[in-house]
Amino acid sequence: MIKKDLVKRYIVEFHNRNFSDVKQRELKIEKIKNRAICIIGPRRIGKTYFLFSLIKNPEDYLYIDFENPIFYNSKPEDIIDILDAYKELYPDKNPIVLLDEVQNIIDWERIVRYLLDKGLEVYVTGSSSKLLSTEIATHLRGRSITYNLLPLSFREFLRFRSIMLEGKAFYENYNKIRGSLEEYLKYGGYPEVVLNEQKERILKEYLEVLIKRDILERYKIRNVYLINELLYFAINNYSKYLSYDSLFRLFKQRIRVTKRTIISYISYFEDAMILFLVREYSSSLKKRIVSPRKIYLIDVGYGLFGNKNISRDMENVVFLELLRKKYYKNINLEFYYLRKNNKYEVDFVIKEGLNIKQLIQVTYANSKDEIERREIRSLLKAHELFKENNPELIVITWDYEDNLRIDNKEIKFIPLWKWLLV
Ligand SMILES: Nc1ncnc2c1ncn2[C@@H]1O[C@H](COP(=O)(O)OP(=O)(O)OP(=O)(O)O)[C@@H](O)[C@H]1O
Ligand SMILES: [Mg+2]
Repeated sequence: MIKKDLVKRYIVEFHNRNFSDVKQRELKIEKIKNRAICIIGPRRIGKTYFLFSLIKNPEDYLYIDFENPIFYNSKPEDIIDILDAYKELYPDKNPIVLLDEVQNIIDWERIVRYLLDKGLEVYVTGSSSKLLSTEIATHLRGRSITYNLLPLSFREFLRFRSIMLEGKAFYENYNKIRGSLEEYLKYGGYPEVVLNEQKERILKEYLEVLIKRDILERYKIRNVYLINELLYFAINNYSKYLSYDSLFRLFKQRIRVTKRTIISYISYFEDAMILFLVREYSSSLKKRIVSPRKIYLIDVGYGLFGNKNISRDMENVVFLELLRKKYYKNINLEFYYLRKNNKYEVDFVIKEGLNIKQLIQVTYANSKDEIERREIRSLLKAHELFKENNPELIVITWDYEDNLRIDNKEIKFIPLWKWLLV
């Protein structure tokens, strides 16, 4: 039994909370009748604060944080009393319900169904070793729309720092904006890291919790050594190739391990959204499956505990921005890399629907002379391959900007900071 009086006090306290510290995010929600909105993403990415950022008039909302002791041992049917408590405070209102850390309640899906059947707007989020946020979405399949939250984009990073980008302010802040990119590449885009001074300490703690909770505890893994080695591999080799065969060869000299184990452990990292794997573009399905993956981290800040390198940071940041386009704008995008017999290589092949839309190279180069001819030749060769789609050719640079016509094809060179702001 839940105490209605306590719940009322909890509700009023929430409504009197000061929301002025909550900053707007870029992710936009489209509501669909009779479906809950499910916000997913790795730990500490800002899911709870994202819910707060939706709030205009606090009294219109019923926020339930199932981590709060008041709701310990709650049962799904307690939602009736919780709603009653709200209704007694605000007889004329139908609340928008925000459910946080909902996985703490057994059979929590029933709460969501009950609220939806009452015609209420419902938002759900959470993360724990019991149920990753992605699985919360899976449990609600058919009754929810899922949105992925990623680390702050460069635009958000600047706004969180109160560096404005609109109109005249852009030109006033021109040097500040360009100068901020190095910090963004170094420490990444976790909101708390961006807002605080003790960046490395926070990141270190995030990484430890991720490994302990989302990997070791969750999958009941005792081989801590192998998990740590794989993590170390990832933070040393992001924006590089990962082949399961070579990983296996590397480890089997030192420990007893199967390739199968390595593959499943890597997939745990993917499920916890610590890393993403990109496949080679190939028309042969078999080749697509067996070829090495390119590995990208959820946040380049984690590179601080491995092997940091600015050109790999750039590529990783480009990958995350592409992912934002896919997730935030709900565009049907797929990403691949292209590699042909070690002759030429393209960092990103971008497929939208059935068409190859863009070919992107990322390079830490300052001038045209510095950009390796190989990079440009690769783009032109790849264009040949997809010529019926006539993809846009883009080289993302550190500082060089131009539009060149080479071999009758247009190549756009754009500095990373600018590309990130478009
Ligand atoms: N939109 C925002 N405005 C201001 N600060 C933010 C914002 N988003 C995140 N933060 C900062 O980052 C911290 C973590 O965010 P939040 O608690 O929302 O993450 P979460 O994804 O819900 O984490 P968990 O998985 O642990 O529940 C917050 O305590 C806050 O300091
Ligand atoms: Mg949260």
